[in-house]
Amino acid sequence: MKRKIVPGTLSTKDLHQYIIGSIAPRPIAFVSTMGENGVHNLAPYSFFNAFSSNPPILVFSSNRKATDNTTKDTLHNVRVSGECVVNVVPYSIVRQMSLASVEYPADISEFDETGLTREPSETVKCPRVMESPVNLECTVKDIITLGEHGGAGHLIICEVNLIAISESVLIGDRIDPNKLDLVGRLGKQYYVRASGAALIEIPQSVSQIPLGFLGLPEKVRTSKVLTGNELATLASLYQLPDADAIAETKARYPEAGQEDEKELHWFAARLIHEGKPQDALSLLM
Ligand SMILES: Cc1cc2nc3c(=O)[nH]c(=O)nc-3n(C[C@H](O)[C@H](O)[C@H](O)COP(=O)(O)O)c2cc1C
Repeated sequence: MKRKIVPGTLSTKDLHQYIIGSIAPRPIAFVSTMGENGVHNLAPYSFFNAFSSNPPILVFSSNRKATDNTTKDTLHNVRVSGECVVNVVPYSIVRQMSLASVEYPADISEFDETGLTREPSETVKCPRVMESPVNLECTVKDIITLGEHGGAGHLIICEVNLIAISESVLIGDRIDPNKLDLVGRLGKQYYVRASGAALIEIPQSVSQIPLGFLGLPEKVRTSKVLTGNELATLASLYQLPDADAIAETKARYPEAGQEDEKELHWFAARLIHEGKPQDALSLLM
């Protein structure tokens, strides 16, 4: 059974919750801007992502408030100044980020209210957040208005001028997710921490064509035991084992339960989870 949600037949508030609960977890742009009054504004935006690497383009959306249809300081500031810094949010500043989402008046700086530190930017006037390990200094290329009513977004399209990355989150030329320890936003008041046991590594070449589900023998593909993920791990292999490999593998696992199909498939599932999908496939054939 699936519940049908038809936009326009429920309140914007309820629709918003279905959307943010479904499109999750979302990365968080912690956006610093400067008002024409010189005040340094800081606010989190999770309707956010990267959309192009060449040119490097980020987009976040500043929505009209559903309650009173007003627009936000960040939108006003980027319209006036044409620039911003997108700071990433590690777990170490998640509470300060949340505090910055409070609707402080435009003459109050969220840097001061949250205790975060201004760090001078190199290509824009608004400061970076020092405690954020990655700062993306941006020029605003375009602002697209999506509607006039409460909840309507304004897409703020930014080109990245410069990325400042703390050496502490790098291993060689790559960012290490465990060192970066980012948080993402889900529905309701939930966040997720993208490090440790939450990380899953799935190597997958996109240029080499694997077996795919249709390349698996039918008795494997129609298994009553193996899950979609387990079958997909086998389907990601590049070739079926030959007769020698099958015989060799079966000799290596005399305890695999060749007589009982279910037991054999459970055994194969265990091997898949132990990172031995070739052995699992050989046993199943
Ligand atoms: C994690 C998080 C993500 C948010 N994402 C958005 C968003 O994508 N768009 C938006 O309009 N407001 C979003 N908000 C709410 C704004 O941060 C909030 O309205 C803030 O007061 C805006 O500040 P400003 O007026 O200084 O721009 C989010 C709040 C939090 C805590």
